[in-house]
Amino acid sequence: MYKINTGGFIDKQKTEGNVVPGGGIRTKNTLTPRGLISILCTAQNRIHRGRHGMVNPGLEGVVAAQTAVCFIDGLQGRMLYRGHDIHDLAAHSNFEETAYLLWHGDLPGPGKLAELNARLCAGRTLPEDIQDLLRAFPRRAAPMDVLRSAVSFLAAYDPDTASHTREANLRKAVRLTAQFATVTAAWHRISNGADPIAPNPDLGHAANFLYMLNGSIPDPEHAKAFDIALILHADHELNASTFAARVTAATLSDMHSAVTSAVGTLKGPLHGGANKDVMDMLNEIGEISLAADYVSEKLAAREKIPGFGHRVYKTEDPRATHLRRLSEELGRKAGDLKWYEMSRVIEQAMMDQKGIACNVDFYSGSVYASMGIPAGLFTPVFACSRITGWTAHLLEQYTDNRIIRPVGEYTGPTEARYVPMDVRPA
Ligand code: COA
Repeated sequence: MYKINTGGFIDKQKTEGNVVPGGGIRTKNTLTPRGLISILCTAQNRIHRGRHGMVNPGLEGVVAAQTAVCFIDGLQGRMLYRGHDIHDLAAHSNFEETAYLLWHGDLPGPGKLAELNARLCAGRTLPEDIQDLLRAFPRRAAPMDVLRSAVSFLAAYDPDTASHTREANLRKAVRLTAQFATVTAAWHRISNGADPIAPNPDLGHAANFLYMLNGSIPDPEHAKAFDIALILHADHELNASTFAARVTAATLSDMHSAVTSAVGTLKGPLHGGANKDVMDMLNEIGEISLAADYVSEKLAAREKIPGFGHRVYKTEDPRATHLRRLSEELGRKAGDLKWYEMSRVIEQAMMDQKGIACNVDFYSGSVYASMGIPAGLFTPVFACSRITGWTAHLLEQYTDNRIIRPVGEYTGPTEARYVPMDVRPA
């Protein structure tokens, strides 16, 4: 059994044999027979020793928090929400009950689920002023910028913003989850010169989002596929946006501020922004026959292919397994398998040339596109799901908080002297 020491680092005594030349420690997450997380090693880690301890670019392999929300086994391609395998949830659950599971730690009974559904429905209607805010944005505004601003705006309207009790934070988590979907759909309509569509209380979360987006009751197969996509994206341990949210909350700032940090972090192309980049890439390639050469050229130029690689997974991302299947099913249903087939060629080329598997963002683009979601909304749609994971982590952070404040290894000068302006070089 390997131990995490009080500083969050791996106990060297217990990892003898895993310390690599140069002082690096190889790490991996895995499930032990007792269900505990043990920390072993991967050769990819680049850990250097500095005056204060270890400098670890990108915090790779650093255990920064204990969490009971989500577990990832990057070597076996396994992922659990609160102990439940993601494959099991994707096959049997729905987004609302998965959200409940993340927030509360167990699956809801019928009464609790009905109560949550009612609260989510009630939360879908936005404060009237927010439509004015959305209309005030230039139509070309990036949807993630609009969403980030809307979260800040909503803080001023939420009766619980200043309260840090678990009950208040749970109420905010539910409201934010409902509001994210309405804001994203409303912005899509406003930015295209149309009026927002009022939520439909007869529809579940996934179907209602598609309804608010397109103005018609969605095809049940599309609603089901979207619901599964929401389940798959709901949480992913200490990913960059969740970590950003926890850092903000750890200062005892409020939940809306923490979620605003998270939205800004998710926007980046190395994180949630990759799903839009995948669709842009498929469009740029244009023809299936050109896909393999496109990959070769990009790799030769040492450029990255969006939707591939992962900090934790060294094998297939278990979420990609479902999204690949959905991409094929929905493409077949639409009578157009072009995006799916092009994606398969890219996937094979990446495996042959780089040995890198695709991640959650690779097939989600073609899945969303086939249900009429435009590429510009892919990252906000990711946020519409991940808001549940962010808030589950925030509940955890507020319950057992310590400010997150690492140290830097100083590399600048130490003997600099003040030079008066008139003697400095021009
Ligand atoms: N395309 C091509 N090569 C890739 C790659 C990709 N998408 N992802 C990683 N690699 C290669 C790197 O070039 C590097 O190769 P090298 O050692 O020969 O230089 C190696 O794999 C390690 O990559 P690195 O960027 O250092 O890994 P990381 O853990 O810091 O980054 C990601 C992880 C996810 C940021 C990275 O894989 C990436 O940028 N992917 C594309 C964006 C994306 O899909 N993001 C969504 C993640 S869910």
